[in-house]
Amino acid sequence: MLEIRSATSEDRDAVWNIFHAIVAAGDTYAFDPKMSRDEALAYWFRADTHTYVAERDGCVVGTYILKANQPGLGSHVANAAFMVASDAQGSGVGRRMAEHCLGEARHLGFRAMQFNFVVSTNTPAIHLWEQLGFKVVGTLPGAFRHPKRGYVDVYVMFHSLI
Ligand SMILES: CC(C)(COP(=O)(O)OP(=O)(O)OC[C@H]1O[C@@H](n2cnc3c(N)ncnc32)[C@H](O)[C@@H]1OP(=O)(O)O)[C@@H](O)C(=O)NCCC(=O)NCCS
Repeated sequence: MLEIRSATSEDRDAVWNIFHAIVAAGDTYAFDPKMSRDEALAYWFRADTHTYVAERDGCVVGTYILKANQPGLGSHVANAAFMVASDAQGSGVGRRMAEHCLGEARHLGFRAMQFNFVVSTNTPAIHLWEQLGFKVVGTLPGAFRHPKRGYVDVYVMFHSLI
């Protein structure tokens, strides 16, 4: 049984554990792999950001954020970021969070969702985003410095919600 709910300050340790493991690996996000706990949590729990967690059997196994991709005249397009604990990946948590996120985005009145920085080697993520209706609308050549593969492309992905 997976429950997806708004995060509270009591989730901060669990969120940091998930965030830290993913960002330290350095193969999916451009965040500094050495980013501190305070910096990470300040980013993930910003006032203009909706923060959610996925909880299974009392354990937080995933987290996502939802926010406007741009201020002002671009604020009708949402942006989101997803992280699933490594030992829970591949068990449907990411899909459930993404479906929840699209529902929340529609509910909040966003007209589209954009992912700005999908690393082209991140096959599970691209597979999932395409299944949910996102399309690659642009390729940024060599925009990510992968720890093992060197400079790899990054995709901008977009999904209309109307
Ligand atoms: C990407 C991520 C959010 C997906 O969440 P998840 O819980 O692992 O994925 P799910 O179990 O919901 O699976 C979703 C789809 O991806 C596929 N998938 C999952 N892990 C996979 C893997 N290692 N290789 C290939 N496909 C994979 C699943 O097969 C499933 O597709 P299917 O239903 O057609 O079989 C998660 O793996 C994650 O947090 N990764 C690290 C951070 C990250 O990359 N975030 C996204 C940045 S754009």
